[in-house]
Amino acid sequence: MRLSAAPQDTLLFDLRFNRSEHDLFSAFRKIYGEKPAVEKRLKALLQRHWLARSEALKNLDLKRDLNPDWFLSEKMVGYVFYVDRFAGNFNGVLDHIGYFESLGINYVHFMPCLKPRPGNSDGGYSVMDYRAINPALGTMQEFEAVAQALREREISVTIDLVLNHTAKEHEWAMKAKAGDIQYQDYYLMFDSQAEVLAYEKTLVEVFPNDAPGNFTYYPEFNKYVWTTFNEHQWDLNWANPEVFLEIADIMLFLANKGVDCLRLDAVAFMWKRLGTNCQNLPEVHDILQALRAATRIAAPAMIHKAEAIVAPRDLVTYLGVGRHTGREANLAYHNNLMVHYWSSLATRDTQLMTYVLRKHFPERFRNASWATYLRCHDDIGWAITDEDCAQVPGIEAFAHRKYLADFYAGQFPGSFARGGIFQENPLTGDKRNSGSFASLAGLESAETELEMEAAINRILMGVALMASFGGLPLLFMGDEIGLLNDYAFAQVPEHAHDNRWLHRPEMPWGKRSAIQQRVFDGTRYIIQQRKACPHLAADIPTRIVAVGNSAVFAFVREGDEGPLLAMFNFSELWQNVPNEFLSAQGALKFLDVLSAASVATPEGYVQLPPYARVWIT
Ligand code: GLC
Repeated sequence: MRLSAAPQDTLLFDLRFNRSEHDLFSAFRKIYGEKPAVEKRLKALLQRHWLARSEALKNLDLKRDLNPDWFLSEKMVGYVFYVDRFAGNFNGVLDHIGYFESLGINYVHFMPCLKPRPGNSDGGYSVMDYRAINPALGTMQEFEAVAQALREREISVTIDLVLNHTAKEHEWAMKAKAGDIQYQDYYLMFDSQAEVLAYEKTLVEVFPNDAPGNFTYYPEFNKYVWTTFNEHQWDLNWANPEVFLEIADIMLFLANKGVDCLRLDAVAFMWKRLGTNCQNLPEVHDILQALRAATRIAAPAMIHKAEAIVAPRDLVTYLGVGRHTGREANLAYHNNLMVHYWSSLATRDTQLMTYVLRKHFPERFRNASWATYLRCHDDIGWAITDEDCAQVPGIEAFAHRKYLADFYAGQFPGSFARGGIFQENPLTGDKRNSGSFASLAGLESAETELEMEAAINRILMGVALMASFGGLPLLFMGDEIGLLNDYAFAQVPEHAHDNRWLHRPEMPWGKRSAIQQRVFDGTRYIIQQRKACPHLAADIPTRIVAVGNSAVFAFVREGDEGPLLAMFNFSELWQNVPNEFLSAQGALKFLDVLSAASVATPEGYVQLPPYARVWIT
């Protein structure tokens, strides 16, 4: 017997609530204690949003409930872009669905698109209204239409949700500023400088040049406000259960507009404790688990992606470890893979990369995996620890980080890279880099045919690396055609202070140059090969192996069809790998998926050309 719509909805809600109730309230109570009245409100909120979901989304819920690992498929490939820079506005995106399809994209991430504060909004990460689309990009209705059109083509949609802070122009902040005590408790406000200084002792600065310190004093209402990032971004007080309810409400509101994945911004900073650096604290993981359980109950089609750009030990925890296994974020950015790709390219040595990726990261996670990427809208912070460097002969951590920053700013003799220094901290000597994939990989500085070849091959090796490592690969807009740094950002008053705009160019839709076409074709080809390779699904373990040739990075994906051995030559010289190494990894035929040719040689070793990438089955 088929139940009619209403009882069936109730039944589904009850089943899902029963499934995730423990995940939700065990974590919720760790943070907020026993609060039956609040829990009751939370449950009612979940029920309300579930009932309000469209039939199409409810069907998707069912489909993904039956296949909760849908996003781990080798068929998934993502594309990340600013809506205005890519297509003018949301309506414009509709004209480019064919472009996604031609490249093989089935997951798009619209960079911050909720209503930002006017003027400088940190690239849209200073949000004043989570329920409205940035008017410069369109309306909520237009957004829904785009999401629906994409859904019909089986392309899923990610948007950003900033969890750590709101703009100081957000309605809650305005009320707080006007003296409303209830809303002051939504933020972290202090009366005395002494309290603030006590925290500062152990905090680090995220934007030491642009926004030094972590607090802002407002004489109008005589309080110090916690502002980790910029002065206009006020940190939320997650110790207040009302904040949890508000955000859960917003998440489900957005889910019902057709969002498939929420990129949860700056999660590492959500919990504060005196005497710590206030990053990656255990409470963050309980909050993230509770939020995940909440959306799993009321919008199971939606997944969470955590943005925590932190050191290896902390990074893994966002994909769910220990009691959070299978219960936290579904995706997290693998910033360590990114950092070590660039580090190894500069040194032509993969020993540190092999050590770090093998030492700190499990071979797979439950219902979760990496978002693999090599460039994004942000700078590259050299998250390489002193302890890890101490394990690899010849590397001194501080000197290595400084070398990388200088190398990618094009300031180190012989560097092929062109980029900018981002946020140099005079106190710690720490500095980061901006720059587009192609410019950092040498395409901008290339003068000879040989240098051009090397740059293109560095890019394509990177694409092959992120397409095979294990996770959901994310291409950042423009990288698929090798766009160079956009120096015009310095002419835009709101952007001039922030050289991350160097690598946030506009998409040129005209005719491509021969080089752009080569990068595009090479990228598209790698994507096609990935999709044809079940070994590369994200739930297949990734085992890092040391090749015995320090220029070559390798790992094995142990699929049902047998192993796939991926190898990458990080140098401009030919490298040899003995046949026995391949055989020891289980390779029988020495067939390279990417070139559709055998790599076997009569000499007893495989010869890898400069910047080679091979996927051997
Ligand atoms: C995230 C974003 C970054 C932004 C910061 C503050 O790290 O990726 O662009 O500046 O959060 O919201």
